[in-house]
Amino acid sequence: MKIFIDSANIADIRAAYDMGAISGVTTNPSIISRENRKFDDIIADVTEIMVDGPIFAEVLSLDAEGMIEEGKKLAAINKNIVVKIPMIPEGLKAVKALSSLGINVCVTVIFSAPQAILAANAGARYVAPFVGRLDDIGENGLDLAQEIRDIFDAQGIDTMIVAASVRHPVHVVELAKMGVDIATMPFKVIMQMAKNPNTEGAVKKFLEDWEKVPK
Ligand code: E4P
Repeated sequence: MKIFIDSANIADIRAAYDMGAISGVTTNPSIISRENRKFDDIIADVTEIMVDGPIFAEVLSLDAEGMIEEGKKLAAINKNIVVKIPMIPEGLKAVKALSSLGINVCVTVIFSAPQAILAANAGARYVAPFVGRLDDIGENGLDLAQEIRDIFDAQGIDTMIVAASVRHPVHVVELAKMGVDIATMPFKVIMQMAKNPNTEGAVKKFLEDWEKVPK
């Protein structure tokens, strides 16, 4: 399973990229707003780091015409841009139009399997079920990811599943076991995956013992 970083913070993206941890970057308007920088400047910096993987950028219009226009502009910025379109009926129209132009589209804010089926039929290259936000409301986000995986496998649908709103390493492990294509997560979760007190303790002890070796 591929790991993407869900961030617009350049230092975090650079650190995750340099560790070989990530093969893509996802953003949304909320993530962009946290950086207090212009969108164009952020995307320019991200495209310099993520030269070999997708960079997801979301449209803001709520009508199909506006989304199509924004989607074309976003796609023109860089060959790696994937246009994120929200899972609303107008969005599906935009997915159909943009994907027929050869533009890669991710249908985002997916909260049910029927939505994922429609998105795939409209031509989405990716669908993004929001795992953690379902957990937040007392449902099971992992169950939704599994349901979409089962349906896509049963139907031979090659639309990729990008599990979004991933909150902790257990989410990541469960998503990997079920064969989800991609999980996107904040830098914090990537670091939680990397770190283990036993590993840190073992490294420290090796160095302490090395001091006892006659020099
Ligand atoms: C997906 O691409 C979204 O940006 C994201 O995963 C939302 O996560 P959140 O629920 O932690 O805001």
